[in-house]
Amino acid sequence: MDNLLDKIVSLSKRRGFIFLSSEIYGGFSSCYDFGPLGTELKKNIKKAWYMEMIRKHDDIVSLDSSILMSPKVWQASGHLTAGFSDELVECKKCHHRFRKDFLDKDKCPDCGGNLTKPKKFNLMMKTFVGPVESEASETYLRPETCQGIYVNFNNILNSMRLKIPFGVAQIGKAFRNEITPKDFIYRTREFEQMEMQWFCQPKDATKFFNYWKKERMNWYLNLGIKKSNLRFKEVVKDELAHYAKKAVDIEYKFPFGWQEIEGIHNRGDWDLSNHSKHSNEDLKYQGYYPHIIETSVGVDRALFAFLIDSYSEIKGGRTKTTKSAKEVETMLKLDKSLAPVKVAVLPLVKNKPEIVKKAKEVYQMLKPHFAVQYDEVGSIGRRYRRGDEIGTVFALTVDFDSFKKNDFTVRDRDTMKQERVKIKDITSFLKEKLNV
Ligand code: GAP
Repeated sequence: MDNLLDKIVSLSKRRGFIFLSSEIYGGFSSCYDFGPLGTELKKNIKKAWYMEMIRKHDDIVSLDSSILMSPKVWQASGHLTAGFSDELVECKKCHHRFRKDFLDKDKCPDCGGNLTKPKKFNLMMKTFVGPVESEASETYLRPETCQGIYVNFNNILNSMRLKIPFGVAQIGKAFRNEITPKDFIYRTREFEQMEMQWFCQPKDATKFFNYWKKERMNWYLNLGIKKSNLRFKEVVKDELAHYAKKAVDIEYKFPFGWQEIEGIHNRGDWDLSNHSKHSNEDLKYQGYYPHIIETSVGVDRALFAFLIDSYSEIKGGRTKTTKSAKEVETMLKLDKSLAPVKVAVLPLVKNKPEIVKKAKEVYQMLKPHFAVQYDEVGSIGRRYRRGDEIGTVFALTVDFDSFKKNDFTVRDRDTMKQERVKIKDITSFLKEKLNV
């Protein structure tokens, strides 16, 4: 589709999914805010991941560790020492800075000037804890959430009486001072990760690596991402992160090319052995360091892929009965578990008080159970299309017959089929259809 990225950016702003951070001040540093619908979508993605990783699997527990950690963590993890850095070059003329591996030529892409020799640039965001800005108070915003899991290994093991193999899952913010944030929310400096660390015997690491690789791919497929837009990419040895023995990426076909959305890593005993060496804690289990298989996905990147994949345009529109037939209709075919609005309640007309009253009653009745919107503005066809554009799964229309029969029509987003459902049955009808 032409200009797909522009269309997603425009829809995101127009319908309240994603806004530029600090927009009234001209934006800030490639940071983004999630609007009312973006927040709902994000929440649903995190819930889908949580249900999949924690509820579906035995022996995975959750954690919510702090963003700020002792700087010793980042010494031990290798983020300060072993190379959590990118190669940066600077234009000698305009002084813009670029990631070396993102450049096609040896000249500045902005002004054509000559570039400096590459130098290492650490990606961690430095901050100060407490009122004195000295080296002693310096630490970093976490660049990955998993370190909180490793340093709590014994706490979790002992408090939950777990046995290897088991997993710990965590969702939370991470920060990286990316040299070149780009492609809307694809690469940003503040983002959210959903990570799971699976601790196992060294001899089982390959078996579990393959297991989790498959499981994670299935998660995207089961949530409706097209198979043709997903693939695995083995990470070659010299591109492996400093902690990884082996890694495979799940890539999505973005409008700007195939790009990583999730990494599955075999981290071996890198983390537990290094934290043991640097702290006073023995992080061995029954005399050995468990090996770690990690699955790590960015919420924002997954959200971006779900938005792009579900975006569709129907030339001429789907409704052949009204004048909408001449328009292009936009639809988000989001999986119903992800859709930010599940149900729209629409009075057929807004100048009949009894219809409006009934519709408002139904809206109030459904609100405790589902994400529901009430909409009375514009023709009914226009309101259906407004709902389709944000992926609203069902539209309930209160009409003149509703009084006689105590029911209303329920329109399905995907099939556009309408059926009449009794008001008393609607909550259970929707719960069953939406699987909640
Ligand atoms: N704990 C391992 C780890 O952090 P990673 O491959 O560096 O591995 C995992 O990151 C995932 O986090 C990526 O696949 C991506 O979805 C997300 N991610 C990483 N950097 C990001 C950034 N700058 N902006 C948005 N998402 C990012």
